[in-house]
Amino acid sequence: MCGIVGYIGYRPAAEVLVDGLRRLEYRGYDSAGVACTNNIRLEVAKSAGRLDNLVKELAKRPLEGQSGIAHTRWATHGAPTDINAHPHTDCTGTIGVVHNGIIENYLELKAWLIEKGHKFSSETDSEILAHLIEEFAVSSVGGGSGDAHGARLYKALTKALSVVSGSYALVVLDQHQPDLLLAARQDSPLIIGLGEGENFLASDMPAIIKYTRRMMVLEDGDVAVVGREKVMVQKLDGLPVERHLFIVDWDPGRTEKEGYDHFMLKEIHEQPAALRAALAGRVGFDTGGKHLPKLEQVLPASVAAACREAVFVAAGTAYHAGYLGREWWRRWTDLPVQAELASEFRYHHPHLDRHSLVVIVSQSGETADTLAALREAKRRGAVTLAVTNVVGSSVAREADYVLYTQAGPEIAVASTKAYTSQLACLALTGIYIASTRGEMDQNRAAALLGELLALNGVMREMIPRLEPEVREVAVEWGRTADVYYIGRGLDYPLAMEGQLKLKEISYIHAEALAAGELKHGTLALITEGTPVVALATQPQLFDKMVSNIKEVKARGAEVLLLTGENNRHRPLVDVADKVIYLPEVDPDLMPIIAAVPLQLLAYYAAVNRGCDVDHPRNLAKSVTVE
Ligand code: M6R
Repeated sequence: MCGIVGYIGYRPAAEVLVDGLRRLEYRGYDSAGVACTNNIRLEVAKSAGRLDNLVKELAKRPLEGQSGIAHTRWATHGAPTDINAHPHTDCTGTIGVVHNGIIENYLELKAWLIEKGHKFSSETDSEILAHLIEEFAVSSVGGGSGDAHGARLYKALTKALSVVSGSYALVVLDQHQPDLLLAARQDSPLIIGLGEGENFLASDMPAIIKYTRRMMVLEDGDVAVVGREKVMVQKLDGLPVERHLFIVDWDPGRTEKEGYDHFMLKEIHEQPAALRAALAGRVGFDTGGKHLPKLEQVLPASVAAACREAVFVAAGTAYHAGYLGREWWRRWTDLPVQAELASEFRYHHPHLDRHSLVVIVSQSGETADTLAALREAKRRGAVTLAVTNVVGSSVAREADYVLYTQAGPEIAVASTKAYTSQLACLALTGIYIASTRGEMDQNRAAALLGELLALNGVMREMIPRLEPEVREVAVEWGRTADVYYIGRGLDYPLAMEGQLKLKEISYIHAEALAAGELKHGTLALITEGTPVVALATQPQLFDKMVSNIKEVKARGAEVLLLTGENNRHRPLVDVADKVIYLPEVDPDLMPIIAAVPLQLLAYYAAVNRGCDVDHPRNLAKSVTVE
């Protein structure tokens, strides 16, 4: 959690840094700060609350200098106050540090530093980094200026890192060394952007893509010395390493709102394009002209053939995608398939071996729980496949195989296009595995793939048609306290996703239930006017769903029913208060289409209640703490 930006070059650093923070706000937004050096002193500005507070502060007291560091915080240790905001400095105020991660042994290190005479200002674990560097720089022998000072600072940093345990991505700025930034990474993402006469550091690419597309991802245990013209990467023990340089091919405009009120709405509308991108180049034709999955480059057929079980592991929305993946793979293959919450995976003592395929689903590829689960799966000998959106992310680097969702940058905290792209990738992989193993008939595989490819067009036509209808319902939910989402079969994980979307951005309490479970307890909560969203996209379960809807209607619920166009002929006026008809696609793929009105429902409910849609309270996009 938290976002880091670093800059060294020829531009006014504070401007570049604040601009970068603006694009990283999704990573945390309870306080922010900047430090710059102008050769004479290191100046810091910090402010609790949203980034605009820092911008006001900087307008009153601009920071000069062409090198600097900045941070947007999601509090873990210490309340979101000015003092606890980063950058943190040492006792002399000449060494500044921004940090993302958690220093687990900070209490004992803090006690040791206090004994040595260090004075702390904040309650954070991060501040100890500045004091450790100060302590080790003072105690190390060596010159006092220029390169010698830089070498001493570097040594002090590596010594500091050798005594801390936990996770970090950090950048260090020293007043006496304005021509370099030092950076390091362990279990938290950090990338370097390479420019001409300038270089950048950031937790994520959107922060710096406006300035450069040439990126380098640091790996765990890397320490980097970043100057204006040169970047040097070493391991903690001093061994030099080369990191792969790649060119990001997104248009920087994709990290702007482009006329939409919120990133979330923009990303909802981007789903047809994202679906198309998720499948691009991954579906071909056989000699008879039938669609065929083309995934050998991602997952060798020998792995699919050797597989004896599959387990999806993920968190939040990605878990809901994995749960639907589980349902699909169970239907399409003969494999036993499970879906596990990443944060719980380790405690279930999973019995895995080299015939187990563990599918790690993660938009960011940096979620700490998910990364820990991936490591556990590898430790237990499983084959791992990452389905992720972020190229070069930790999950992508550590898994045996990677399938990129190719959805493009997702900025809103509430995941939308990443989710539907994950679904497309999981469906595609399921079809690939099932047909490779001879468990799915080639005609069925071809038909499903054809429908999957056509989904983007269906969605493109559907969104503008359904948006006004959905908005109307959301406005009616103005003062609602609770909403229940019910569904059976494939509609149950869809209900889970619908309720999460609503909760996280509108703060309306919502609950998802397998519709048949209602009568086993929760029905007691349904009273006059309680909104219930009933999902009935599965023809073979429709009648059973109608019975469940009648159960809630009999208790006074206000029912919104989402079902396929094919049900338009049925007399549903007595069943539901409002029906939204979805375009018909293969029933197995209906949940991909149906996710969109649920996202719009959450979006407009949140807007109607005046919520800050892109920055829901207490949340951040990428959860890099356990
Ligand atoms: O980056 P990841 O996909 O691993 O993130 C997992 C969850 O934190 C994420 O899906 C979260 O639930 C979203 N805010 C939901 O919209």
